[in-house]
Amino acid sequence: MSVDSCTDAVPNHVAIVMDGNGRWAQQRMLPRLAGHRQGLEKLREVVRWSIEAGVGVLTVFAFSSENWRRPADEVSGLMGLLAKALDREVPELSQAGVRLCFPGDREALAPALRRSLEAAERQTASNGTLVLNVCFNYGGRWDIVQAARSLAQRSEPITEASLSDALALSHVPDPDLVIRTGNEQRLSNFLIWQMAYSELFFSDVLWPAFTRETFQQALEDFARRQRRFGRTPEQAGRGDKAAA
Ligand code: FPP
Repeated sequence: MSVDSCTDAVPNHVAIVMDGNGRWAQQRMLPRLAGHRQGLEKLREVVRWSIEAGVGVLTVFAFSSENWRRPADEVSGLMGLLAKALDREVPELSQAGVRLCFPGDREALAPALRRSLEAAERQTASNGTLVLNVCFNYGGRWDIVQAARSLAQRSEPITEASLSDALALSHVPDPDLVIRTGNEQRLSNFLIWQMAYSELFFSDVLWPAFTRETFQQALEDFARRQRRFGRTPEQAGRGDKAAA
């Protein structure tokens, strides 16, 4: 993460908590999974909008460590949705220059799904237009614990830099902008380490109904903010490296 610049016009890394699929479906008397399906369609659109806006990294929360607590059919539905999306979308995403990554704990996932995730990561590894991190079986606390464990196993000193390097998103800078849809204002154990200095944008809109206008509004809102990283407004206004 650069602490030298105050606000760049376009956030390099946008992270999204795609909340509201269930309510969107229930409002239409549909099963919750129909909301997740529509949520996946929305994600395809947001990938396109992100590329067009010049965003370099898009990170989405597709399945949290806590989502196992949901009804079994919803959990297996979400697993199936990811498996199908991988089957269908990888060639087109790769064609568009998207590098796919799946931060999260894979231990609990079915071996076939794990193999598909690894294959998609391998196939798209050299793409450079957009990094798409689909956080699956991901939790911020899990991430910090697995990072600390791996440093301990290697007997490495624990510093901010070494811990950051051991986290599941070490291949990208920290998020500049975090968007949460669905009219909830909490972090829900998403990138809790990486969000330390992210700008937050909350929207009432349910994820399947998220529009390009709201996405644009989030980007414009971000562009107007002054990021200070602990400095005074005056220092930050000068981009004062010496005072950082
Ligand atoms: C939160 O909405 C959403 C999720 C737990 C799943 C997000 C999944 C997608 C957007 C589909 C893309 C999925 C894959 C597998 C790539 P919620 O169900 O908590 O909604 P609610 O708060 O209205 O109940």
